[in-house]
Amino acid sequence: MNEVMELMKKHRSIRRFTEREVEEELLKEIIDSARHSATSSFLQAYSVVRVRDDANREKLAAYCGDQKHVKQAPVFLVFCADLHKLSVACDLQGAEMKKGYVEQLIIASVDAAIWGQSVLFAAESMGLGGVYVGGIRNHPDEVTEMLKLPEQVFPVFGMSLGYPDQNPQVKPRMPLPLVYKEDIYLMDKEKELLKEYDESFLEYLRSRESNPREETWTETVASKVSKESRPHMKAYLQKQGFNIN
Ligand SMILES: Cc1cc2nc3c(=O)[nH]c(=O)nc-3n(C[C@H](O)[C@H](O)[C@H](O)COP(=O)(O)O)c2cc1C
Repeated sequence: MNEVMELMKKHRSIRRFTEREVEEELLKEIIDSARHSATSSFLQAYSVVRVRDDANREKLAAYCGDQKHVKQAPVFLVFCADLHKLSVACDLQGAEMKKGYVEQLIIASVDAAIWGQSVLFAAESMGLGGVYVGGIRNHPDEVTEMLKLPEQVFPVFGMSLGYPDQNPQVKPRMPLPLVYKEDIYLMDKEKELLKEYDESFLEYLRSRESNPREETWTETVASKVSKESRPHMKAYLQKQGFNIN
């Protein structure tokens, strides 16, 4: 293992930050290096909006389900899936973009996510910490209005970044055989492996310093995925020009 892989294995989300500002040059370097990530068909179907306005940060924190770090983090970024610039490129070429494909939604969301992970990883390599904020999709209409996102652009996730003021433990991941398969998707020993994982996850939750809990991973998942999952997103995406049917 080298130091890059070691750093990957040390990842944990940071939700509390010191007041130290993130140096402008450093932030630019992070964003710029992450911009070199791979992108589907070289479409670069992403953009990021840094929200600096205090009043808007406060509103965003509320929209995201009262997540304090959204307001308090020195840097808050909104990563967008962005097909808008592809339409502009077509305009320049006198061509018409065919819109509304699920494939385009996948391409732009994947591009945004790859860029986001590169930003987080670059930030972590420089001693910063951060957390993704899917809560940005709680109120996508309000966020779209606030950030003046044009059609064909939508916020995939936010990200709070800054210097860590906490040092949480690393969360144990699922056993490798459940996520790494060879040749075929072998559904072998899934329940046994998940039960084992429940034990190690429970141990982690019990022993962690902040917010210790008595809950297994399968309990967490079952309670989460048996609820509706932002059902407003379909109508929102349609309105935003991602005409998913
Ligand atoms: C797309 C995405 C959205 C997320 N949204 C939130 C969020 O809104 N609030 C939050 O506190 N954590 C959020 N997280 C962080 C996850 O909860 C966290 O990554 C996961 O529990 C694993 O913990 P770790 O990052 O500390 O290893 C999000 C992560 C991802 C990848």
